Amino acid sequence: MFNHKNHHHSFNFCSPISEQPQQQPDIENQVEPKSCYEDLGIAPKINFFYGRNEELKIIHDWIFLQKARLISVLGLSGIGKTTLVKRFVDLNSNFFDVLMWKSLRFPQPLNLLLTEIFNNFSLVNDSVSLNEETWRKLFDILRHKKCLIILDDVQNIFTEKQLAGQYQPEYRDYKTFLKMMTEIEHQSCLILVSQEKSQEMKSLNEELYPIKVLELIGLYETELLNHQDLENPESWSTLIKLYEGNPLYLQNIADLIKDVFQGDVLSFVNGDELILTEDLKDLFNSLFDKLSKVEQKIIVEMSQQNQEFSIETLKEHLSLSSADLINGLQSLSRRYILRTNPQNKKMFQLSPVFREYLKQGNNFHQ
Ligand SMILES: Nc1ncnc2c1ncn2[C@@H]1O[C@H](COP(=O)(O)OP(=O)(O)OP(=O)(O)O)[C@@H](O)[C@H]1O
Ligand SMILES: [Mg+2]
Repeated sequence: MFNHKNHHHSFNFCSPISEQPQQQPDIENQVEPKSCYEDLGIAPKINFFYGRNEELKIIHDWIFLQKARLISVLGLSGIGKTTLVKRFVDLNSNFFDVLMWKSLRFPQPLNLLLTEIFNNFSLVNDSVSLNEETWRKLFDILRHKKCLIILDDVQNIFTEKQLAGQYQPEYRDYKTFLKMMTEIEHQSCLILVSQEKSQEMKSLNEELYPIKVLELIGLYETELLNHQDLENPESWSTLIKLYEGNPLYLQNIADLIKDVFQGDVLSFVNGDELILTEDLKDLFNSLFDKLSKVEQKIIVEMSQQNQEFSIETLKEHLSLSSADLINGLQSLSRRYILRTNPQNKKMFQLSPVFREYLKQGNNFHQ
Protein backbone atom coordinates (compact mmCIF):
# COMPACT_ATOMS: atom_id res chain seq x y z
CA MET A 1 0.00 0.00 0.00
CA PHE A 2 2.86 2.38 0.69
CA ASN A 3 4.78 3.99 -2.06
CA HIS A 4 8.29 4.13 -0.68
CA LYS A 5 9.93 5.84 -3.61
CA ASN A 6 10.37 9.06 -1.65
CA HIS A 7 11.59 7.22 1.36
CA HIS A 8 14.62 8.86 2.86
CA HIS A 9 16.27 9.50 6.18
CA SER A 10 17.65 12.94 5.73
CA PHE A 11 17.42 13.95 9.38
CA ASN A 12 20.60 14.78 11.11
CA PHE A 13 20.19 13.87 14.74
CA CYS A 14 23.64 15.15 15.77
CA SER A 15 23.70 18.34 13.77
CA PRO A 16 25.64 21.34 15.10
CA ILE A 17 22.37 23.18 15.45
CA SER A 18 22.17 22.74 19.16
CA GLU A 19 24.55 24.05 21.75
CA GLN A 20 22.40 22.61 24.46
CA PRO A 21 22.17 18.97 25.47
CA GLN A 22 20.18 17.12 22.84
CA GLN A 23 16.61 16.63 23.88
CA GLN A 24 16.29 12.90 24.21
CA PRO A 25 12.72 12.15 25.09
CA ASP A 26 12.48 9.10 27.34
CA ILE A 27 10.61 7.44 24.61
CA GLU A 28 12.38 4.11 24.30
CA ASN A 29 10.20 2.37 26.82
CA GLN A 30 6.97 3.32 25.19
CA VAL A 31 7.42 3.23 21.45
CA GLU A 32 9.52 1.07 19.19
CA PRO A 33 11.57 2.98 16.60
CA LYS A 34 9.99 2.53 13.20
CA SER A 35 11.02 2.86 9.62
CA CYS A 36 9.26 5.96 8.52
CA TYR A 37 7.70 7.19 5.30
CA GLU A 38 8.38 10.93 4.96
CA ASP A 39 6.95 13.66 2.81
CA LEU A 40 8.22 16.87 4.33
CA GLY A 41 7.12 19.14 1.49
CA ILE A 42 8.38 22.67 2.07
CA ALA A 43 9.20 22.26 5.75
CA PRO A 44 12.20 24.46 6.59
CA LYS A 45 15.59 23.05 7.55
CA ILE A 46 16.45 24.11 11.09
CA ASN A 47 19.99 25.46 11.37
CA PHE A 48 19.80 26.96 14.84
CA PHE A 49 17.61 25.88 17.68
CA TYR A 50 17.75 27.17 21.24
CA GLY A 51 15.62 26.62 24.32
CA ARG A 52 12.04 25.39 24.06
CA ASN A 53 12.94 22.11 25.80
CA GLU A 54 9.83 22.36 27.91
CA GLU A 55 7.67 22.79 24.81
CA LEU A 56 9.34 19.82 23.06
CA LYS A 57 8.61 17.67 26.08
CA ILE A 58 5.00 18.83 26.26
CA ILE A 59 4.37 17.90 22.60
CA HIS A 60 6.14 14.60 23.13
CA ASP A 61 4.00 13.69 26.14
CA TRP A 62 0.78 14.74 24.47
CA ILE A 63 1.47 12.52 21.47
CA PHE A 64 3.09 9.49 23.05
CA LEU A 65 1.59 9.38 26.53
CA GLN A 66 -1.76 11.09 26.22
CA LYS A 67 -2.44 9.99 22.63
CA ALA A 68 -3.59 13.45 21.56
CA ARG A 69 -5.11 13.42 18.09
CA LEU A 70 -5.19 17.17 17.43
CA ILE A 71 -2.51 19.58 18.67
CA SER A 72 -2.43 23.28 17.84
CA VAL A 73 0.77 25.27 18.15
CA LEU A 74 -0.25 28.90 18.22
CA GLY A 75 1.30 32.33 18.58
CA LEU A 76 2.35 35.55 16.90
CA SER A 77 4.24 35.62 13.64
CA GLY A 78 7.94 35.00 14.19
CA ILE A 79 7.59 33.57 17.69
CA GLY A 80 9.00 30.20 16.53
CA LYS A 81 6.03 27.88 15.88
CA THR A 82 7.26 26.34 12.63
CA THR A 83 10.80 26.02 14.00
CA LEU A 84 9.60 24.24 17.15
CA VAL A 85 7.38 21.78 15.32
CA LYS A 86 10.04 21.02 12.71
CA ARG A 87 12.53 20.45 15.49
CA PHE A 88 10.08 18.05 17.13
CA VAL A 89 9.74 16.21 13.83
CA ASP A 90 13.52 16.01 13.41
CA LEU A 91 13.91 14.52 16.88
CA ASN A 92 11.02 12.08 16.71
CA SER A 93 10.61 11.03 13.09
CA ASN A 94 11.65 7.48 13.95
CA PHE A 95 8.62 6.93 16.09
CA PHE A 96 6.06 7.35 13.34
CA ASP A 97 5.15 5.18 10.36
CA VAL A 98 4.25 8.18 8.26
CA LEU A 99 5.26 11.85 8.44
CA MET A 100 3.66 14.48 6.28
CA TRP A 101 4.27 18.22 6.36
CA LYS A 102 1.72 20.28 4.45
CA SER A 103 1.95 24.03 4.21
CA LEU A 104 -1.16 26.14 3.77
CA ARG A 105 0.95 29.17 2.86
CA PHE A 106 -0.86 28.90 -0.45
CA PRO A 107 -4.02 27.25 0.83
CA GLN A 108 -5.81 24.59 -1.12
CA PRO A 109 -9.23 23.02 -0.67
CA LEU A 110 -9.23 20.00 1.61
CA ASN A 111 -10.10 17.50 -1.12
CA LEU A 112 -6.89 18.45 -2.99
CA LEU A 113 -4.85 18.11 0.18
CA LEU A 114 -6.35 14.67 0.82
CA THR A 115 -5.64 13.73 -2.79
CA GLU A 116 -1.98 14.57 -2.18
CA ILE A 117 -1.99 12.45 0.94
CA PHE A 118 -3.60 9.53 -0.89
CA ASN A 119 -1.13 9.95 -3.75
CA ASN A 120 1.66 9.32 -1.28
CA PHE A 121 0.12 5.94 -0.68
CA SER A 122 -0.57 5.31 -4.37
CA LEU A 123 -4.22 5.08 -3.47
CA VAL A 124 -5.67 7.39 -6.11
CA ASN A 125 -4.66 9.10 -9.30
CA ASP A 126 -7.41 11.65 -9.72
CA SER A 127 -8.57 14.18 -7.22
CA VAL A 128 -10.89 12.79 -4.57
CA SER A 129 -14.19 14.26 -3.49
CA LEU A 130 -15.21 14.47 0.13
CA ASN A 131 -17.61 11.57 0.40
CA GLU A 132 -17.95 8.76 2.88
CA GLU A 133 -15.58 6.52 0.94
CA THR A 134 -12.82 9.16 1.14
CA TRP A 135 -13.24 9.67 4.88
CA ARG A 136 -13.27 5.91 5.44
CA LYS A 137 -10.04 5.52 3.44
CA LEU A 138 -8.39 8.34 5.33
CA PHE A 139 -9.30 7.05 8.77
CA ASP A 140 -8.29 3.51 7.76
CA ILE A 141 -4.80 4.86 7.18
CA LEU A 142 -4.80 6.89 10.41
CA ARG A 143 -5.97 3.83 12.37
CA HIS A 144 -3.53 1.32 10.92
CA LYS A 145 -0.43 3.48 10.74
CA LYS A 146 0.90 5.94 13.28
CA CYS A 147 0.92 9.07 11.15
CA LEU A 148 2.01 12.56 12.09
CA ILE A 149 0.53 15.15 9.79
CA ILE A 150 1.53 18.79 10.17
CA LEU A 151 -0.49 21.61 8.69
CA ASP A 152 1.54 24.81 8.81
CA ASP A 153 0.27 28.38 8.26
CA VAL A 154 -3.31 27.39 9.00
CA GLN A 155 -4.27 31.07 9.55
CA ASN A 156 -4.42 31.41 5.75
CA ILE A 157 -7.69 29.47 5.55
CA PHE A 158 -9.40 32.02 7.80
CA THR A 159 -11.21 35.10 6.55
CA GLU A 160 -9.43 38.43 6.63
CA LYS A 161 -11.12 41.52 8.08
CA GLN A 162 -13.41 39.41 10.25
CA LEU A 163 -13.01 38.17 13.79
CA ALA A 164 -10.26 35.56 14.22
CA GLY A 165 -10.70 31.93 13.27
CA GLN A 166 -13.58 32.22 10.78
CA TYR A 167 -13.11 29.76 7.90
CA GLN A 168 -13.24 31.10 4.36
CA PRO A 169 -16.21 29.46 2.59
CA GLU A 170 -14.00 27.35 0.31
CA TYR A 171 -12.09 25.98 3.30
CA ARG A 172 -15.03 25.09 5.59
CA ASP A 173 -14.30 21.40 5.05
CA TYR A 174 -11.21 21.79 7.23
CA LYS A 175 -13.52 22.44 10.17
CA THR A 176 -15.19 19.08 9.57
CA PHE A 177 -11.80 17.43 9.18
CA LEU A 178 -10.55 18.82 12.50
CA LYS A 179 -13.69 17.66 14.29
CA MET A 180 -13.43 14.19 12.78
CA MET A 181 -9.76 13.93 13.76
CA THR A 182 -10.79 14.25 17.39
CA GLU A 183 -14.08 12.34 17.35
CA ILE A 184 -12.93 9.22 15.52
CA GLU A 185 -10.64 6.73 17.23
CA HIS A 186 -7.22 6.25 15.56
CA GLN A 187 -3.53 6.26 16.50
CA SER A 188 -2.36 9.29 14.50
CA CYS A 189 -1.91 12.97 15.26
CA LEU A 190 -2.51 16.19 13.37
CA ILE A 191 -0.47 19.23 14.42
CA LEU A 192 -1.88 22.59 13.37
CA VAL A 193 0.50 25.56 13.28
CA SER A 194 -1.33 28.87 13.21
CA GLN A 195 -1.17 32.56 14.09
CA GLU A 196 -4.90 32.49 14.81
CA LYS A 197 -6.96 30.28 17.05
CA SER A 198 -10.26 28.87 15.81
CA GLN A 199 -13.13 27.30 17.70
CA GLU A 200 -11.78 23.81 16.99
CA MET A 201 -8.48 24.60 18.72
CA LYS A 202 -9.79 24.29 22.23
CA SER A 203 -7.77 23.91 25.36
CA LEU A 204 -9.26 21.81 28.10
CA ASN A 205 -7.19 20.71 31.02
CA GLU A 206 -8.41 17.15 31.07
CA GLU A 207 -5.45 14.80 30.65
CA LEU A 208 -6.93 12.33 28.21
CA TYR A 209 -8.91 14.78 26.14
CA PRO A 210 -7.54 14.32 22.58
CA ILE A 211 -7.28 18.05 21.76
CA LYS A 212 -4.30 20.06 23.01
CA VAL A 213 -3.16 23.64 22.54
CA LEU A 214 0.32 25.05 22.96
CA GLU A 215 0.46 28.85 22.92
CA LEU A 216 4.03 30.03 22.40
CA ILE A 217 5.37 33.06 24.20
CA GLY A 218 8.70 34.82 23.77
CA LEU A 219 12.02 33.00 23.96
CA TYR A 220 14.05 34.76 26.63
CA GLU A 221 17.36 32.96 26.05
CA THR A 222 20.49 34.97 25.30
CA GLU A 223 21.82 32.04 23.23
CA LEU A 224 19.33 33.20 20.64
CA LEU A 225 21.84 35.93 19.69
CA ASN A 226 24.94 33.68 19.75
CA HIS A 227 25.30 33.33 16.01
CA GLN A 228 24.48 36.97 15.23
CA ASP A 229 27.98 38.46 15.55
CA LEU A 230 26.95 40.97 18.20
CA GLU A 231 29.01 42.52 20.97
CA ASN A 232 28.26 43.37 24.63
CA PRO A 233 26.70 40.06 25.72
CA GLU A 234 25.81 41.72 29.04
CA SER A 235 23.20 43.80 27.17
CA TRP A 236 21.68 40.95 25.19
CA SER A 237 19.00 40.11 27.72
CA THR A 238 17.88 43.77 27.75
CA LEU A 239 17.60 43.64 23.96
CA ILE A 240 15.66 40.38 24.08
CA LYS A 241 13.23 41.81 26.64
CA LEU A 242 12.79 44.94 24.56
CA TYR A 243 11.75 42.84 21.56
CA GLU A 244 9.63 40.47 23.64
CA GLY A 245 11.73 37.38 22.97
CA ASN A 246 10.38 37.14 19.41
CA PRO A 247 13.17 35.43 17.42
CA LEU A 248 12.07 37.00 14.15
CA TYR A 249 12.01 40.56 15.55
CA LEU A 250 15.40 39.88 17.12
CA GLN A 251 16.91 38.67 13.86
CA ASN A 252 15.77 41.87 12.19
CA ILE A 253 17.11 44.06 14.96
CA ALA A 254 20.39 42.15 15.13
CA ASP A 255 20.92 42.91 11.43
CA LEU A 256 20.20 46.57 12.07
CA ILE A 257 22.62 46.69 14.99
CA LYS A 258 25.31 45.10 12.85
CA ASP A 259 24.74 47.48 9.95
CA VAL A 260 24.42 50.73 11.87
CA PHE A 261 25.97 50.17 15.31
CA GLN A 262 28.80 47.85 14.24
CA GLY A 263 27.30 45.19 16.50
CA ASP A 264 27.39 47.42 19.59
CA VAL A 265 24.26 46.28 21.43
CA LEU A 266 24.92 48.52 24.43
CA SER A 267 24.73 51.75 22.40
CA PHE A 268 21.60 50.48 20.73
CA VAL A 269 19.74 49.68 23.96
CA ASN A 270 20.95 52.91 25.56
CA GLY A 271 19.05 54.92 22.97
CA ASP A 272 15.60 55.68 24.37
CA GLU A 273 13.51 54.56 21.43
CA LEU A 274 12.11 51.22 20.41
CA ILE A 275 13.25 51.04 16.79
CA LEU A 276 11.26 49.17 14.14
CA THR A 277 12.87 48.10 10.88
CA GLU A 278 11.07 48.41 7.56
CA ASP A 279 10.66 44.63 7.48
CA LEU A 280 8.97 44.69 10.86
CA LYS A 281 6.69 47.53 9.78
CA ASP A 282 5.73 45.45 6.73
CA LEU A 283 4.95 42.50 8.96
CA PHE A 284 2.79 44.63 11.25
CA ASN A 285 1.07 46.28 8.28
CA SER A 286 -0.05 42.92 7.03
CA LEU A 287 -1.15 41.81 10.51
CA PHE A 288 -3.08 45.07 10.95
CA ASP A 289 -4.73 44.80 7.53
CA LYS A 290 -6.12 41.37 8.39
CA LEU A 291 -7.99 42.67 11.45
CA SER A 292 -11.68 43.52 11.55
CA LYS A 293 -12.60 47.22 11.88
CA VAL A 294 -13.61 46.69 15.51
CA GLU A 295 -10.24 45.16 16.40
CA GLN A 296 -8.42 47.98 14.64
CA LYS A 297 -10.38 50.55 16.63
CA ILE A 298 -9.59 48.82 19.91
CA ILE A 299 -5.85 48.58 19.42
CA VAL A 300 -5.48 52.05 17.94
CA GLU A 301 -7.19 53.39 21.07
CA MET A 302 -5.01 51.25 23.31
CA SER A 303 -1.85 52.44 21.58
CA GLN A 304 -2.54 56.05 22.59
CA GLN A 305 -1.56 55.40 26.16
CA ASN A 306 1.18 53.40 27.73
CA GLN A 307 -1.05 51.47 30.11
CA GLU A 308 -3.21 48.41 30.37
CA PHE A 309 -6.96 48.63 29.90
CA SER A 310 -10.02 47.11 31.54
CA ILE A 311 -13.18 46.51 29.53
CA GLU A 312 -14.82 49.39 31.41
CA THR A 313 -12.11 51.91 30.49
CA LEU A 314 -12.20 50.80 26.87
CA LYS A 315 -15.97 51.22 26.85
CA GLU A 316 -15.56 54.80 28.05
CA HIS A 317 -13.02 55.57 25.36
CA LEU A 318 -14.66 53.83 22.40
CA SER A 319 -18.04 54.16 20.74
CA LEU A 320 -18.56 50.42 20.40
CA SER A 321 -21.41 48.24 21.60
CA SER A 322 -20.56 45.89 24.46
CA ALA A 323 -20.91 42.89 22.15
CA ASP A 324 -18.52 44.37 19.57
CA LEU A 325 -16.00 45.30 22.23
CA ILE A 326 -16.07 41.90 23.93
CA ASN A 327 -15.92 39.94 20.67
CA GLY A 328 -13.14 42.22 19.46
CA LEU A 329 -11.11 41.61 22.61
CA GLN A 330 -11.58 37.86 22.33
CA SER A 331 -10.52 37.94 18.69
CA LEU A 332 -7.39 40.00 19.43
CA SER A 333 -6.49 37.50 22.14
CA ARG A 334 -7.00 34.65 19.68
CA ARG A 335 -4.45 36.35 17.44
CA TYR A 336 -2.03 36.88 20.35
CA ILE A 337 -1.99 40.65 19.71
CA LEU A 338 -3.51 41.27 23.13
CA ARG A 339 -2.87 39.39 26.31
CA THR A 340 -4.22 39.68 29.80
CA ASN A 341 -2.07 40.70 32.73
CA PRO A 342 -1.11 37.42 34.47
CA GLN A 343 -1.59 39.11 37.87
CA ASN A 344 -4.94 40.64 36.98
CA LYS A 345 -6.74 38.85 34.19
CA LYS A 346 -9.23 41.68 33.79
CA MET A 347 -6.57 43.98 32.37
CA PHE A 348 -5.64 43.78 28.69
CA GLN A 349 -2.13 44.58 27.50
CA LEU A 350 -0.93 45.47 24.03
CA SER A 351 2.52 44.23 23.01
CA PRO A 352 4.99 47.17 23.36
CA VAL A 353 6.50 46.50 19.93
CA PHE A 354 3.09 46.46 18.25
CA ARG A 355 2.12 49.55 20.22
CA GLU A 356 5.17 51.36 18.89
CA TYR A 357 4.14 50.46 15.36
CA LEU A 358 0.60 51.76 15.95
CA LYS A 359 1.90 54.95 17.54
CA GLN A 360 3.91 55.71 14.46
CA GLY A 361 0.67 55.59 12.47
CA ASN A 362 2.01 53.39 9.67
CA ASN A 363 -1.24 51.54 9.70
CA PHE A 364 -3.60 54.21 8.50
CA HIS A 365 -2.96 53.50 4.88
CA GLN A 366 -6.13 51.40 4.44
N1 LIG B 1 14.04 28.05 19.20
C1 LIG B 1 14.65 28.79 18.26
N2 LIG B 1 16.00 28.84 18.19
C2 LIG B 1 16.61 29.58 17.25
N3 LIG B 1 16.00 30.30 16.32
C3 LIG B 1 14.65 30.30 16.33
C4 LIG B 1 13.91 29.56 17.29
N4 LIG B 1 12.60 29.74 17.05
C5 LIG B 1 12.53 30.56 15.99
N5 LIG B 1 13.74 30.89 15.54
C6 LIG B 1 14.03 31.74 14.37
O1 LIG B 1 13.05 32.76 14.30
C7 LIG B 1 12.51 32.89 13.01
C8 LIG B 1 11.01 32.79 13.07
O2 LIG B 1 10.63 31.50 13.49
P1 LIG B 1 9.42 30.70 12.83
O3 LIG B 1 9.45 30.81 11.36
O4 LIG B 1 9.43 29.34 13.42
O5 LIG B 1 8.20 31.54 13.38
P2 LIG B 1 6.65 31.27 13.21
O6 LIG B 1 6.04 31.38 14.56
O7 LIG B 1 6.42 30.00 12.46
O8 LIG B 1 6.20 32.53 12.35
P3 LIG B 1 5.03 32.64 11.23
O9 LIG B 1 3.74 32.58 12.00
O10 LIG B 1 5.25 33.97 10.60
O11 LIG B 1 5.20 31.48 10.30
C9 LIG B 1 13.14 31.80 12.16
O12 LIG B 1 14.09 32.40 11.31
C10 LIG B 1 13.84 30.90 13.13
O13 LIG B 1 15.07 30.47 12.65
MG1 LIG C 1 5.66 29.57 10.60
